[in-house]
Amino acid sequence: MLVLAIESSCDETAAAVTAGGEKALSNIVSSQTQIHRKYGGIVPELASRKHIEVIIPVIKEALLKAGITLDHVEGIAVTNGPGLIGSLLVGLSVAKSIAYARNLPFVGVNHVEGHLSAIFLENPRLRFPFIGLVVSGGHTCLYRFNHLGSYEWLGGTRDDAAGEAFDKVAKLLNLGYPGGPVIDKVATDGDPEAISFPRAFISKDTFDFSFSGIKTSVLQYVRKHPRARVEDIAASFQEAVVDVLISKAVQAARAFDLPRIVLSGGVASNRRLRIRLKEIAEGEGLEVNIPSPILCTDNAAMIGVVGHYYLDRGRTSPLTLNAFSNLPI
Ligand code: KG4
Ligand code: ZN
Repeated sequence: MLVLAIESSCDETAAAVTAGGEKALSNIVSSQTQIHRKYGGIVPELASRKHIEVIIPVIKEALLKAGITLDHVEGIAVTNGPGLIGSLLVGLSVAKSIAYARNLPFVGVNHVEGHLSAIFLENPRLRFPFIGLVVSGGHTCLYRFNHLGSYEWLGGTRDDAAGEAFDKVAKLLNLGYPGGPVIDKVATDGDPEAISFPRAFISKDTFDFSFSGIKTSVLQYVRKHPRARVEDIAASFQEAVVDVLISKAVQAARAFDLPRIVLSGGVASNRRLRIRLKEIAEGEGLEVNIPSPILCTDNAAMIGVVGHYYLDRGRTSPLTLNAFSNLPI
């Protein structure tokens, strides 16, 4: 089945055409980073306004790149939460309009479920169950992924998401926005052991995370040591976050006796996290699967994977479907 997938939950306007739920014929992402950079974070109203400008051109480009027209599309999938309401409503309204006009089956998809399932675009034969770790600007959660459509929530952040911590620390180090990619870059010239920032493992019995303490420690360190090398601070901060994420994921794989870990979400494009997770988890005999960076950050192809799974089973959403800022899977 050829699915047109649409994603506009945050500050990326994205459209993709997926075939059989496992191949992206196109995957177009229009980022708004330039618009939000001068404010040091996402301004929701500006995000919605930009989505409304670019959504149709982005969809047209996705169809063109896939070498098809709307006549070939067999189903429509769209993110309907979690995310910024004004942003979500743009993609959702356009998706509904196309579905209505073309009389196509239509399904709403959970954004986090999309991140968890992006891996199937590169590894369609991946065996489940596995431990899924979604680390992004809005989410840091661990799931037991039984199969597409069936997940168990194991734990999540009690305060900041990991990506949010990257963004806030970059801001206080005057490194600009978005923080994740810039810390990733600056950290390559730093010593990850230069400063020992606290690792909030909380306790052995929980798969929850906490990142606000690390952020506060960085702030205190910077105040006390104004001449410290920013590269060392960035590398040491990154190492603390990476350590916690990896140890909880490995701990979960052990606790549920699962042989593999799948990492996804924007922070999963972090080079140190990718390398260290492979080193540590594979060293413990676990299999590690991480999508390419373009499939880790927000994109619509991942929404097409999940949408296809439901549409293929006849599960559709009504055209009265709403958008939700919080939407558990
Ligand atoms: O998944 P995503 O594109 O959007 C959300 O659903 O939140 O994730 C965006 C987050 C931002 O916080 C950004 O700073 C972070 O992912 N990020 C990174 C890297 N690239 C993006 N964090 C660390 N290292 C990176 N290379
Ligand atoms: Zn995301």
